[in-house]
Amino acid sequence: MSETIEDVKARHAELSRRLDDHAYRYYVLDAPIVSDAEYDVLLRELTAIEDDWPGLCTPDSPTQRVAGAFSTQFTPVVHLERLLSLDNAFSAAELEAWEARVDREIGAGRSAYLCELKIDGLAVDLVYEHGRLVRCATRGDGRTGEDITPNIRTLATVPDQLSGADLPPLLEVRGEVYFPVAGFRALNERLVADGKAPFANPRNAAAGSLRQKDPRVTASRPLRMIVHGLGARTGFAAKTQSDAYAAFEAMGLPVSSRYAVRPDLAGVQEFIAHWREHRHDIEHEIDGVVVKVDDISLQRQLGSTSKSPRWAIAFKYPPEEVTTKLLDIRVNVGRTGRVTPFGFMAPVRVSGSTVSLATLHNQDEVKRKGVLIGDTVVLRKAGDVIPEIVGPVVELRDGSEREFVMPTHCPECQAELVRPEGEADTRCPNAAACPAQLREAIFHFGSRGALDIDGLGYKTGIALIDAGFVRDIGDVFHLTGDQLVALDGFGEISVRNLLAGIEVGRHRPIWRLLVALSIRHVGPTAAQALAREFRSIDAIAAASSVALGAVEGVGPTIAEAVAAWFTDARHRDIVERIRAGGASLADEKTDEGVRPLEGITVVITGSLTSHSRDSATEAVQSLGGKVSGSVSKKTDFVIAGDAPGSKYDKAIALGVSILDDAGLTVLLAEGGDAARAVAVRQGPGGLLKVLPPSVDDSQGVV
Ligand code: IVH
Repeated sequence: MSETIEDVKARHAELSRRLDDHAYRYYVLDAPIVSDAEYDVLLRELTAIEDDWPGLCTPDSPTQRVAGAFSTQFTPVVHLERLLSLDNAFSAAELEAWEARVDREIGAGRSAYLCELKIDGLAVDLVYEHGRLVRCATRGDGRTGEDITPNIRTLATVPDQLSGADLPPLLEVRGEVYFPVAGFRALNERLVADGKAPFANPRNAAAGSLRQKDPRVTASRPLRMIVHGLGARTGFAAKTQSDAYAAFEAMGLPVSSRYAVRPDLAGVQEFIAHWREHRHDIEHEIDGVVVKVDDISLQRQLGSTSKSPRWAIAFKYPPEEVTTKLLDIRVNVGRTGRVTPFGFMAPVRVSGSTVSLATLHNQDEVKRKGVLIGDTVVLRKAGDVIPEIVGPVVELRDGSEREFVMPTHCPECQAELVRPEGEADTRCPNAAACPAQLREAIFHFGSRGALDIDGLGYKTGIALIDAGFVRDIGDVFHLTGDQLVALDGFGEISVRNLLAGIEVGRHRPIWRLLVALSIRHVGPTAAQALAREFRSIDAIAAASSVALGAVEGVGPTIAEAVAAWFTDARHRDIVERIRAGGASLADEKTDEGVRPLEGITVVITGSLTSHSRDSATEAVQSLGGKVSGSVSKKTDFVIAGDAPGSKYDKAIALGVSILDDAGLTVLLAEGGDAARAVAVRQGPGGLLKVLPPSVDDSQGVV
């Protein structure tokens, strides 16, 4: 049979597609799958066809393209089906109201709910024809988006070709493109190092990375996508949204591993509560949970408003990231003389509290974050309670912003500040007389993490300094009732309370005293290690830095800081005055024979009700046990309080025994074996709660 013009056109189209693909892989992805010679063979064949059939040689033919000329043009694209938005629910009541509307329309209990994470990224629309990715577009206004095909094709998680047989002639899928959090931090560090403005958050970084004319820039960013919706299709049928996800997964599309189908709203609430706790344990940011009626025919029955489907709703978590104005950057002088810049902001509510101050750590950090005074900044409280300035919203600058300049002199004592070579911190060297250092050191001395002296708060500390009763921490144990009654606002009861608090402080374990001395780098972990080894302040003071550094958990930096602190005559005088004030400078010897937790390692996570973390640590260690910061197979128990976080998950994954508050009490009172009997353990069918025999002999395992 002779070749028809149709055959030639088909071959021309096939060669053009393959050459386009190879050129793209070569120039953009930097990952060719054919050799230059193989590429040339294809190109020669195409050129020969065009020589014979000049009409096929159009300007977009690979024979006409300038090498490497790949550019995203952002051409408008009309979506095959409209991309809708989602209605939001901010409370359980709003979620219940949504379900009531659904029930009214389709009847109660007709469909299960598919729950999935609401990824904080950008919506994109992908069209596959016979399994081949032909077009990718941004959401735009929902009807028309912009063509970003070359950029999306650089995402490793987006297949160019779907796998499997019988692929649908047409499949339009929707998904979210996001920037993994770890990659975002690394990118910002690089941008600032190159003198460029950082992105305010991962979402902006994802948007900025997709809006690139040169797809090679997009390719250099670790963007990922997760599919969460179905648009136009022919030859593709799914009864439920979850069936559609299973089919997508089989075709090689990126589907989240974290969706779940729940039979009722109680199940949905559980899913929401779980991810509220674990939202920071995953690689991307989420701002809520999307709940969808799973049955697709019921989705059709429910239909959509002009804006959003009635069959889906987004449950939004309270914002953890807000924007506010950075009014000023000031500095604070700490108890060891460290000068810390902090952001002074217009008060704003974030994650349940009002915030107006956030530390910026040091001069380099201010630079690294790229924030200017007067900027609108993104503020967050990630995971824990400490607010953090994430970065500036550069688009909102109006030119009035100014750079922060580190002061050259201490704002409190006017001493010239120093920044030792190679150190990130700037310091006030006037340790003996700087009022800020003195004030902070006294406050720290009595704080919960140090000697935990009831009644010695910030205000009292300042009053004692102002009255001249306390020159430094060496004077605290010499305070008398006569002095205290003379203080403004000090009645008999407050005097008695403070004196009682001071008396308790005299007999605290020496690791607390060691922390209270405000030695650089010495926190509770190092102090406990030193106290365990040396048992007295005098022995620590007499030890060389080599001997100190030999203690497990005490590195050379800490060892040198401790040794240097005790060689200073002013510090030795402080220790003598503490001794003369009646404080115990040595821990009583524990009976070496009675160390019931010898050989047992525990990890503490979450907040306990029966103990503070410090006191639980102290109690375990005083019985010979070890408290570690991370969970491994060698961990004997994870003691989990409320909101335990990822250590709890790890314990479950490794099958480590978990103790709650009551279990900790058993461990301390009766030892490891007794505690094992009350521990919660991972069993073949999930979590097993093993009750102590005394609670219910007949039941044993529930
Ligand atoms: S479904 C018709 N599922 O949130 C419903 N959207 O606020 C279409 N989003 O435009 C959306 N994660 O870009 C759906 N798991 C998820 C999502 C999700 C993030 C985005 C999506 C949508 C926006 C609405």
